[in-house]
Amino acid sequence: MPSRVAIVRGLRTPFAKSGTLFARLTALDLGKMAVAELIERSGIDPKSVQEVVFGNVIPSVKAPNIAREIVLGTGLPRSIPGYTVGKACASANQAIAAASDMIVRGYADTVIAGGSESLSDVPILFSRNMADAFVGASKGKSVVAKLGAFKKVRPKDLLPDAPAIAESTTGLTMGESAEKMAKENRISREAQDRFALQSHKRAAAATSSGRFKDEVMTVVLPPSFDTVVETDNLIRADTTLEQLAKLKPVFDRKYGTITAGNSSPLTDGAAAVLLMSEEKAKAEGFKPIGYLKSYAFAATDPFDQLLQGPVFALPIALERAGITLKDIGVIEMHEAFAAQVLSNIQWMGSKKIAEEKLGRSEPIGDIDPTSINRTGGSIALGHPFGATGARIVTTVCNELQRTGEQYGLVTVCAAGGMGAAMILERE
Ligand SMILES: CC(C)(COP(=O)(O)OP(=O)(O)OC[C@H]1O[C@@H](n2cnc3c(N)ncnc32)[C@H](O)[C@@H]1OP(=O)(O)O)[C@@H](O)C(=O)NCCC(=O)NCCS
Repeated sequence: MPSRVAIVRGLRTPFAKSGTLFARLTALDLGKMAVAELIERSGIDPKSVQEVVFGNVIPSVKAPNIAREIVLGTGLPRSIPGYTVGKACASANQAIAAASDMIVRGYADTVIAGGSESLSDVPILFSRNMADAFVGASKGKSVVAKLGAFKKVRPKDLLPDAPAIAESTTGLTMGESAEKMAKENRISREAQDRFALQSHKRAAAATSSGRFKDEVMTVVLPPSFDTVVETDNLIRADTTLEQLAKLKPVFDRKYGTITAGNSSPLTDGAAAVLLMSEEKAKAEGFKPIGYLKSYAFAATDPFDQLLQGPVFALPIALERAGITLKDIGVIEMHEAFAAQVLSNIQWMGSKKIAEEKLGRSEPIGDIDPTSINRTGGSIALGHPFGATGARIVTTVCNELQRTGEQYGLVTVCAAGGMGAAMILERE
């Protein structure tokens, strides 16, 4: 029998709106903090870690393999390799899946997986003409030759080019794609705002009750170390339906329903989990918070409904786990947009979608939107792209521990029409 993969412990930094508390930190800084504290809190011997796998969506040009940089920057033995994965918003799920595969094969028994993102620190590129001029100048043998390389540069070439959250195939941003889904699935503005309100209220209640103490670390901000960040700074405990209803649509200003209030915000943060083989965890006296029972990734045509990937991944993960949706007690769905969550739920419950898109005779099952994301989701907590999957896996495991339910589910939609589903279980 292959080894079960134990999630020994999970931890994240607080999440901060990009450009605010963590504006001067990089994804690497945040990743190092999460991993160092995870090692500290779990009590694991750093020498027993055999690999670090990290998700990161917008890599630094200077240190693109963030996983290895984390090893080198956290005092872990330099003999530990590390690699970085990119699967858009499901990157940390992919990191966890890859790490767990190593354990199941018996190639490793202790791996740290997670993800990190700084949307405050995105690479700003020059236009191709400007970049060519720089390269030409660096090769010029005299000052005249170096200056000559800039002869063809025009004023428009000086404009910086920041990465867009747009699909290269469809040209649509995530927000525009979610807007299309809201329209095609007739998800009302009110339903979206209600869902966003639920996210904020639950995140605020979970924070004030101390529910996140086990999974959110404290960050003391360098370089002066005089600011202590203990909680996420995006949660709006006092938001109301009336305030949400007043916000203007962002992605289709005239006819749209998606606003800053019912979207996940641009966020900085990192999250990590410590994975071990069940045998090793138990032999070492660890008490895992959960086990990864199965996972699946799937994809749909980005020209259809971009953020429906979870609908395609979920039935595969359930089949692999040998259970049905009815067996699941705790459900966490990543909230890219309220319209996306409500669209995913609509399609999961639809017989027509099952028959036409999934090749199945029965729908996956009904999910009550008020029963999911009990401690809030990405709309309120924030969504550092590379990190979210690890945040949610930890939250589900801790919730299984708290309630005694047996099975938990994580779904994450991702750019490119992709989706992730993970089934977790308690003991
Ligand atoms: C939607 C988006 C463009 C909004 O960005 P933004 O304009 O910087 O958002 P802000 O936080 O400044 O909010 C805009 C306004 O709405 C208000 N607001 C936002 N959420 C609110 C809430 N829950 N209740 C009340 N007001 C709210 C803000 O106070 C702000 O008001 P102000 O202009 O008077 O200051 C940005 O968050 C975004 O691009 N999100 C999507 C990210 C994405 O595509 N992710 C990929 C998904 S997988």
